[in-house]
Amino acid sequence: MALWGRRIRTVALTAVLVMGASALQASAAVADPAPAVSAAASPVPAPSASPSPEPVTVYGYYRTPWTTDQSVYEVRTDGSVRRLSVAQWDRLGKPKRAVAPVSYVRASWSRTVYGLLTWPHHKGDRAVDDVVTLDAAALRSVGTPTSRVVGHVPTTRYSRYVSGPKDLYARTPDGVRHLLTARERAAAGSPKPHDVVPGGYYRAKWSKNVHFVAASGAQRVISAATYAAAGKPQVSIAPTVYARTPWSSTVHALITWPHRPGDRSVDQVVRLTAATYAAAGRPRTTTRYRIPGDSFVRLTVGDTVYHRLSGTLTPVTASQWRAAGSPKVRSVRPAKPAHIRDILIVNKSLPLPSSYGNGLRPELTRAFSTMKAAARKDGVSLTIISGFRSYATQKSVFASKVRQHGRAAAEKRSARPGHSEHQTGLAIDVNSISQAWGETKAGRWVAKHGPEYGFIVRYPKGKEKVTGYRWEPWHLRYVGTAVAKKLTSAKLTLEEYLRVPSRY
Ligand code: DAL
Ligand code: ZN
Repeated sequence: MALWGRRIRTVALTAVLVMGASALQASAAVADPAPAVSAAASPVPAPSASPSPEPVTVYGYYRTPWTTDQSVYEVRTDGSVRRLSVAQWDRLGKPKRAVAPVSYVRASWSRTVYGLLTWPHHKGDRAVDDVVTLDAAALRSVGTPTSRVVGHVPTTRYSRYVSGPKDLYARTPDGVRHLLTARERAAAGSPKPHDVVPGGYYRAKWSKNVHFVAASGAQRVISAATYAAAGKPQVSIAPTVYARTPWSSTVHALITWPHRPGDRSVDQVVRLTAATYAAAGRPRTTTRYRIPGDSFVRLTVGDTVYHRLSGTLTPVTASQWRAAGSPKVRSVRPAKPAHIRDILIVNKSLPLPSSYGNGLRPELTRAFSTMKAAARKDGVSLTIISGFRSYATQKSVFASKVRQHGRAAAEKRSARPGHSEHQTGLAIDVNSISQAWGETKAGRWVAKHGPEYGFIVRYPKGKEKVTGYRWEPWHLRYVGTAVAKKLTSAKLTLEEYLRVPSRY
C-alpha cells in the first residue's frame, strides 16, 4: 500500500462529493497541475522572478487509530506518503507518531464501515487521502465507533450496463456492487457512470424471461428471485431478426444477446409458434435461404433435398437449394420415427420402432368425436372399426392378408409390421373395409368433410403408385386441419407433400 502523490490527489478529488462545494475549489486547485508546472518542464530557464522550489522534507509520522494496522506512515511536505514497517520505523529511531485524523462512514445500503483517513502534510489539512475498508477486528480496536451514512463513499466507482441506460451501480471500496435506487443516486450527487459495462439484462420481445449476458458473451435465463435480488435492473429487448425461409411459413427469431457495442452476431435461433409470434407483435419477417445452425440433407431412402433446422426437415426444390448457395448435402439415414414438416410419416420406406405406440392419440380422439357429431347432423353415422394396432397385432393382420390374398396382393392392402400407420395412433378405419363404401353417402361425407376436422383419406384413388396401397376410402389419417385442407384441395398425398418414396 505505498501511497504516492498521484493516487492521493485522485482520492482527494473524489472526496469532494462528500465534502461539499467549498472544498471543491481547494481540491481542484491542488489536483489540477498549474500551467507553471509545464513551463518548468520546458527547456527555457524559468525567469529569475519565480520562487525557487521548496525542498521536500518529512512533514510527520502517523499511524491509523485501529491497532490491526501496525504500520507507520511517513508523510512528506509534498503530500506523498510512504508506509513503513515497524522494523523500518525502528531503524529510523522510532520518531514520534501521531494518530491520523479519521472519520467513519458507510453507505446507506451496506453495513461496511470505511475509515476516511487524512495524512496531514500541512497545517489544517483535512483532505481525505485514503479510504480503508474496516473489518470487525479493526472496528473493535477503535471501540466500534458510530459511522456516518454518506451518499458517496470516496473512491466509489459508478457504472452501468449497456442494457440499462437508466441504471447506475456503485462499486464501493469493499468491492461490492449495488444498483442505486433513485434516492441513493441523488444522495450520491447524481454522478455520471465511469464505465459502461458490456452485456447486462435482456429479454426476447415475446418472453418475460430475463437473460443475463456477461461481458464474455455467456448468457443464461435468471429466475424472478435472482432478478429481484439484483434490484430489478432495466431490461432491454434483445436485437432480433424475424426470418422465414421460402419453403416454410415458420418464423424463426434470430436473437443477438449483445455482449459488446454493435454486436450483431446471432446467438440463438428460436422457432416461434403462432402464440409467441403474436406476443412479439407480429413483426415483419425477412426471407432467408439460410438460418444459423441449419444444414441440407438427403435421406438414404430418396433423392429429395431437405433443409434441416433443429431437427425439423422441410423439403426444398432444386432451385431453392441453388438459391441457398448450393450448400453441401449430407446423406442421412431417416430418423425412426421420421418427422418431416413436423408430420409423423410412416410408410413402406419409413418404419416405426417395434415398441412404438400405445393407443389412439388424444388429438385424434377429440377430432373424431367432433367429426362424428357433425356427421350425425348430416344423417351419417361414423364408427371406428380399427384404431390403434401394435406391431404384434399388425404382424398377424399382415400374415392373414397374405394367407387370404397371396403375397403380392396383400402388399397392396396391408402394411408389414412396423410400417402401418395404425401403429402411430393417428389413423383409424371407419365403417367398412370396402371400396364400394367409398361411393356411399358416408364414404363421400368423410372424403369431403374429414379435412375440416383434420382427417385425410390417406390412400386415395389414383395414387396407388405413390402410396403403394390401393384406394382405402375408410382409412383416415389425422394430420390437423391446416395440413388436411391443404393436401385435400391440392390432391396431394403425404408422400407427395413430404416428397418421400414408399417402397420396401
Ligand atoms: N391398410 C393399411 C395400409 C395398413 O395396413 O396400415
Ligand atoms: Zn387402415
